[in-house]
Amino acid sequence: MHVKIVEVGPRDGLQNEKEIVPTEVKIALIEKLAASGLTTIEATSFVNPRWIPQLADAEEVLARLPRGKDVTYTALVPNLRGLERAVSSGLQEIALFMSASQTHNQKNINKTIEETFPVLREVAQAAHSYGMRVRGYVSTVFGCPYEGDVPVDNSRRVTQALLEMGVHEISLGDTIGVATPKQVRHIFGELVKEASAERLAAHFHDTRGTGLANVVAALDVGIRIFDSSIGGLGGCPYAPGAAGNISTEDLVYLLHGMDIDTGVDLERLMEAGAYIQQQLGRELPSKVLKAHLAA
Ligand code: HMG
Ligand code: MG
Repeated sequence: MHVKIVEVGPRDGLQNEKEIVPTEVKIALIEKLAASGLTTIEATSFVNPRWIPQLADAEEVLARLPRGKDVTYTALVPNLRGLERAVSSGLQEIALFMSASQTHNQKNINKTIEETFPVLREVAQAAHSYGMRVRGYVSTVFGCPYEGDVPVDNSRRVTQALLEMGVHEISLGDTIGVATPKQVRHIFGELVKEASAERLAAHFHDTRGTGLANVVAALDVGIRIFDSSIGGLGGCPYAPGAAGNISTEDLVYLLHGMDIDTGVDLERLMEAGAYIQQQLGRELPSKVLKAHLAA
């Protein structure tokens, strides 16, 4: 069995760092991630730099990254302005994002859910006309920091809308890390009725320590694409209290232990984890990295 890992650390992780990480550190990190065998890396965001100054160097990061055929770089795009920037940077894949809950959507992208649909539709149409692949994210699927429980019908509606825009893959986000395996089985079980399991990805944050248990639950219901971040970096600046994504090292260790192939060399991956931990000057949440460095 093979699982595709989408590495989101350089985007979901670094968007949340208090100190802005130097461009050359971002580039070195992404190069190390690619060298470990990761094939899809979300490198940055083309959002308003006033909202996310941490990723204001998106153009420079992409301009200085060596491009090969073994790795696909992608980035978040919220609107046509973001798409123009992604096109100028030579990206062949982008990711649209919105939330299943109204308040998080409003705080994160300054629009209601209804106002967001036509904006993203326009972006998807234009991106497809450039021959780009378009991924879609649905945030707050498992709970919202402002509204609490989010009805699965909200996520269904957003998923359907993104599918109509022609996205090739939809990542369901546990933005604040509240999900548990029972809920994961239930929600993915409902949403595979809209998009087939092959097109759904799981994006777990590990705020409450249920991240890897949720991965196993998602595997049980046929999910084969997982988002994770090196070292377990991350959060969402518009989701108070959100911790990092599940760590890529921990995810790879778990999957390899289950005889699931990822194409990633764990030793080389840990070089990337050790590098960014050293650069940030604090211990990152990844347990596998910690055990490796202590050994
Ligand atoms: P807005 O302020 O409503 O935008 O922001 P606007 O259209 O009114 O434009 C205002 C100004 O921003 C204009 O400049 C635009 O040109 C500029 P001015 O005329 O005032 O000089 N602008 C831009 N500049 C560069 N690139 C752009 C861009 N767009 C507008 N793309 C907007 C609306 C969506 C842009 C803003 O709210 C935004 O950037 N939000 C991004 C927030 C974000 O990045 N959040 C974190 C990522 S989501 C996440 O982490 C969740 C996820 O991981 C999944 C999960 O865990 O659930 C994906
Ligand atoms: Mg996230």
